[in-house]
Order: sequence, then C-alpha cells, then structure tokens
Amino acid sequence: MFDKKTYQQRRNKLCKQVKSGLLLFLSNGESPMNYAANTFHYRQDSTFLYFFGLNFPGLAAIIDIDENRQTVFGNDLDMDDIIWMGPQPALKNRCLKIGVADAQPLANLSETLHNAVRLGRKIHFLPPYRSENALWLERLLGIRAEAVKNFASAEFVKAVIAQRSLKDPDEIKEIEAALTVTAAMYREAMAMAQPGAYEREIAGRIEGIALAGGGQLAFPAIVTIHGETLHNHYHGNRMQKGDLLIIDSGCETEAGYASDITRTMPVGGKFADRQQAVYETVLDMQRTALAMIRPGVSYRSVHLKACEVLVERFKDLGLMKGSRSEAVAAGAHALFFPHGLGHMLGLDVHDMEDLGENQVGYDEKTKRSPQFGLAYLRLAKKLEPGHVLTVEPGIYFIPALIDQWQAEKKSAAFINYAEVDKYRKFGGIRIEDNVLVIPQGGRVLGPPIPKEIAAVQKAVAGK
Ligand code: GLY
Ligand code: MN
Ligand code: MN
Repeated sequence: MFDKKTYQQRRNKLCKQVKSGLLLFLSNGESPMNYAANTFHYRQDSTFLYFFGLNFPGLAAIIDIDENRQTVFGNDLDMDDIIWMGPQPALKNRCLKIGVADAQPLANLSETLHNAVRLGRKIHFLPPYRSENALWLERLLGIRAEAVKNFASAEFVKAVIAQRSLKDPDEIKEIEAALTVTAAMYREAMAMAQPGAYEREIAGRIEGIALAGGGQLAFPAIVTIHGETLHNHYHGNRMQKGDLLIIDSGCETEAGYASDITRTMPVGGKFADRQQAVYETVLDMQRTALAMIRPGVSYRSVHLKACEVLVERFKDLGLMKGSRSEAVAAGAHALFFPHGLGHMLGLDVHDMEDLGENQVGYDEKTKRSPQFGLAYLRLAKKLEPGHVLTVEPGIYFIPALIDQWQAEKKSAAFINYAEVDKYRKFGGIRIEDNVLVIPQGGRVLGPPIPKEIAAVQKAVAGK
C-alpha cells in the first residue's frame, strides 16, 4: 500500500478530468471455486486498488465530484466473521490510511445512488467483467445485468486509462520488485529443465517462489514443451532431450503489481542447430524492437519492424521468399507469429484490459487492423514516457494452421511450404521482457534473466 497522499492525488486528478457527476467504484467479491465457502484466491479489482488501496472484498466507493465528497461503503466485521477470519481494524481506520474520512455501512450505498438518480445526476461506472458485479449494478441502478456494460461511462474509462497508463516511480519500484522475484523463479526453473522431469514440477516450484515472495502468480503459468499452443496451461508432459520448453509466467507484489516474462530453453541444455537459428531470429526480433522503443514511436510500427526481421531471417533459412515489406504487408509472417508484440503492464498483466483493449492500446488516430495476426496486437498507439509494456516476439509452427494455409495456398508467394513442412514438430519459441518508456528510449526493467543462447544454456546447466 502506498502513502495516503498517493491515493488522494490520484482521486483528485480523476475528479479534474471527469469534471462532474458521481464516480462509482465496486470492489471485487470473493469468487467460489466449487462451493460458496471454498473460494479462489482473492483478487481485488485493479482500479479499486489504484484509487483506494483497500485489498479486501465487500466494498464500494463513491466520489461525488460536484459535492467534493468521497465515501467508502463497507461493513465492519461481526463476531461470526471475527471467529472465522480473525479481527480486522475498523473500516473507518482503514479508510483514514487512504485519506478518506467518510466510511459508511454498505447498506447506505443504494440509498445514496437512488437519491442521485432521483435528482437526475450522472452516475459514472466502469464496465463490469465479473457477473457478480454486473448483477450488483443491476440491483443498484436498475439496468439489466446483460446490458449494463453498454451504459458504462466512456469519460470515466478514458480518465482511468489516461492516469493508470503512466506509471510513477513508486509503481516502477513495485513492478521491479515483482521482477526480482520472477528472476528467482526463472533461475530455479531453467535449471530444472532436464530430461525425465515433468513440466508440473517446474510449475509447482515457480508458484512456490511467487508465494514465498509475498504475492501470487499474476496469471496461470505457462510451462510447456508444446509452446506452439500459445496459452497452453497443461503441465503434465514429461520432458525429453531435444524438447524446447517455454515458460511464460509472472508474479504480483503484495500491492498487486505484475511482471510478465517468457523464456524458452532447450531441455537438457543444448539448442540443436535448427532451434538455435529460430531462437536467434526471435532474439533479433526482440533486440530490434527494444532498440526502437522511444516516446512518439507507435507500437504498431515496432511490431511490424519485428515482423520484417522474421521474414528476413526466414528467407535465409529457406522458409520464406519474396519482398520483406510485401510479405509483412500481406500478413504472411503471421503463419509463424500470429500474436501481437506486446501489451501494457501494471496492476493487471494485460493492464486495464477490463476497460477495453481498444481503449487502452488504440486511440482516435490508431485503429485496429482486421488482418490475421495484426488484429491480435493489443497495443498499437504511440508510446509515451511512463508507459510500461511487454516486448514478446514469438515464432511457432502450428500444424493445424500450416495445414489450413497450405490447403488454401495462402501467401504462397512468400512461404516455402515444402520447407515449412520439415518444422512441423518444432514447437514454439517466445522471449518476453518488460520495458519502461523513458524520454531517451526504453529501459528493460528488473534484473537480467538469461536470454542470449550461451546464457540460457548455462542456466539450464545450473551454472
Ligand atoms: N502471459 C500472457 C502474455 O504474455 O500476454
Ligand atoms: Mn507472458
Ligand atoms: Mn505478455
């Protein structure tokens, strides 16, 4: 948790941007896993955390911009709660820590909102992503849960994104603290990538390190020898010499800030020639992208440059042919790199994606392309100092996609399908780092995590 001044400043800035009306914030509730009392690990809503810092369920808050009043609604624990969950400070005292003087019982929330509705006042709320909160909004505002998203406040969304997109030094410290734990996760994980071991042994170890670091995983870890499946959460394979293992994972700090790192390694410690060539390609794509990052540069142009590197290298390997720029314009590279180069990172691993991917990564001047591959680019707009983003190029050989494209003779002018066929069992490679945009360029955050070929091989050897 930050100093109360931080939360006060954040809320004041928000009021200045939205200008009038009531801003309604809902906390996340507990989420049942298989019955009501057996819940998933609790995760607060990130916007609630950002403006109010209170990391527990059963809360709502209203900022009345016109009346200059800020209220947190919630209930103090009763004896039953205390017996099962232990004593907690009174809500009033917790609110003082975040600079809110007015704490009221949760029962007062609907009356406050009904009064505002009666007076015809504007109530701004954010689009809910949990059905419980959509139902809560239905009860509070009388808008059907299925439709409530359509009535979310575009001004509120825009103001929150504008503020949360620019990370201050305290937030950077948090992300770097998450990365310090993540570096330890990778140190252990890479040394465990040995023939005979199961993916799940590594998955268990890295989650343990995240928990021991004071947080939890920021998202379910990807630990797989089938990296060609982009979000593969199956951990049951036994690794064999010659496999490529992708580990895409990150953790959160206690305050909720995330890291998001990917490394790919040869099981047993030595890349085969073909693996090394593709690995160097991905590394070159990332190096090129990192060198381009600076304020004013659009992330779409960085993504497209990385795609050009792929084509150039793949021409040398005989997998592609023709003009580099024409191949990229046609989207031919997306057979191997079907996802985007990266996304914003902060309190969420895909930061603020609940508020709308287009609202976060695009703007009036930057529209999303419908082209396969480019359509998945989550961040395309111009970069600004204070943005934190991921740079995560990848190359995959996805048999089903290769079959489909080949049958359709798609981009046949740029792809040597006979050669691609030899890579059907290759799997995938992705390399991901987290970068802060600074006035001079981009700064890779956190301690180094082995990435160059020699360093990766050494890390797998446990050295
Ligand atoms: N871990 C998901 C991603 O890299 O976006
Ligand atoms: Mn990732
Ligand atoms: Mn990522």
